[in-house]
Amino acid sequence: VTIEWSLEQATKAGYPHFMLKEINEQPEGIRETIKRRVDENNLIHFDDINLGKEELKAIKDIYIIACGTAYNAGLQGRFALQKIAKIKADADIASEFRYSDPFMDETTLVILVSQSGETLDTLAALREAKLKGAKTLAITNVIGSSIAREADNVIYTWAGPEIAVASTKAYTTQVVVFYMLSLYIAKLKEIITDEDYTTILNGLNEVPEKIEKIIAQEDKIKAIAEKIKDCTQGFYLGRGLDYSVATEASLKMKEVAYMHTEAFASGELKHGTIALIEDDIPVVAITTQSSLFEKSVSNIKEVKARGAYVISVTQENNKVVEEVSDEVIYIPETDDLIAGITAIVPLQLLAYHVSAMRGIDVDKPRNLAKSVTVE
Ligand code: G6P
Repeated sequence: VTIEWSLEQATKAGYPHFMLKEINEQPEGIRETIKRRVDENNLIHFDDINLGKEELKAIKDIYIIACGTAYNAGLQGRFALQKIAKIKADADIASEFRYSDPFMDETTLVILVSQSGETLDTLAALREAKLKGAKTLAITNVIGSSIAREADNVIYTWAGPEIAVASTKAYTTQVVVFYMLSLYIAKLKEIITDEDYTTILNGLNEVPEKIEKIIAQEDKIKAIAEKIKDCTQGFYLGRGLDYSVATEASLKMKEVAYMHTEAFASGELKHGTIALIEDDIPVVAITTQSSLFEKSVSNIKEVKARGAYVISVTQENNKVVEEVSDEVIYIPETDDLIAGITAIVPLQLLAYHVSAMRGIDVDKPRNLAKSVTVE
């Protein structure tokens, strides 16, 4: 086992909580994760993993398997693999995967995502995948962890040690790895233009700076937290990539702030959820995808008309949401394809501040463990 982390990294370094420190460490973790794999000519290197041109050509489908926040990163990963690498990809929860009797053979790639590399359900899914002859690839933050050791291939995230139970910087670095992997596969398969490749990669390179700009809005986010801190429930809405962000944002609010929230695909709203909307319920609407923008605005209007307190997270150029929202948090303009990586950051901060205002032990919420090694 190689230890590359220093003792200093494992202290709060002046922050009141590890979670806040780790949110702030995301730019650095993402820079490092990219730096380890991208050279000065903008070429992505995964030469150490056994997924060359021939192996990749043989892969027909991908399963992304994980638990908790890592699963939510997998939802964004699925999106990236399908959109960029044009491979059929599914994401499943590790504890459920085995029970659906998944079809796997040597044409299947199973990607296991785990910050700790020790989550037992994810490890069990890895073992099952290997038994069935699938190729396996781990995305993990801990060198030499069980999942890293047992998988055929490993890509490390370079988030540094994550101490807070609620995962933040591991999540964003995992998503970045999925995008790099998707670009790498697309280039190997020669299905991406140089222009698209460069646009997406440049977009990834700019993510750290954009996250810094979002973190600079912390006071504004704190003021919104103040307004919703006594609410007992809330909803997160999103469509397409934004729905994956909603799922993770909702989990953050549940686990650190004990607020009962649910994430819904905006289009499902009218099929049931809208019955729950009443006066002053906070609804976080994530609308970063310009092609879906009109539809999202009409969903916002639907909940607003029923009294919801709407907090929108959108790109800087989407000023129209101001007319239909109570609060708007802007993320710097980003290529739609990768907007999910930055859009989560204000919502990590929102959950953090609600938790801190409620006097919760932010870094160690009740009943939760950082690494779950039981089934
Ligand atoms: C626990 C943690 C979560 C984490 C999940 C998966 O439930 O509380 O924050 O997302 O395990 O952990 P892993 O180490 O496999 O990413």
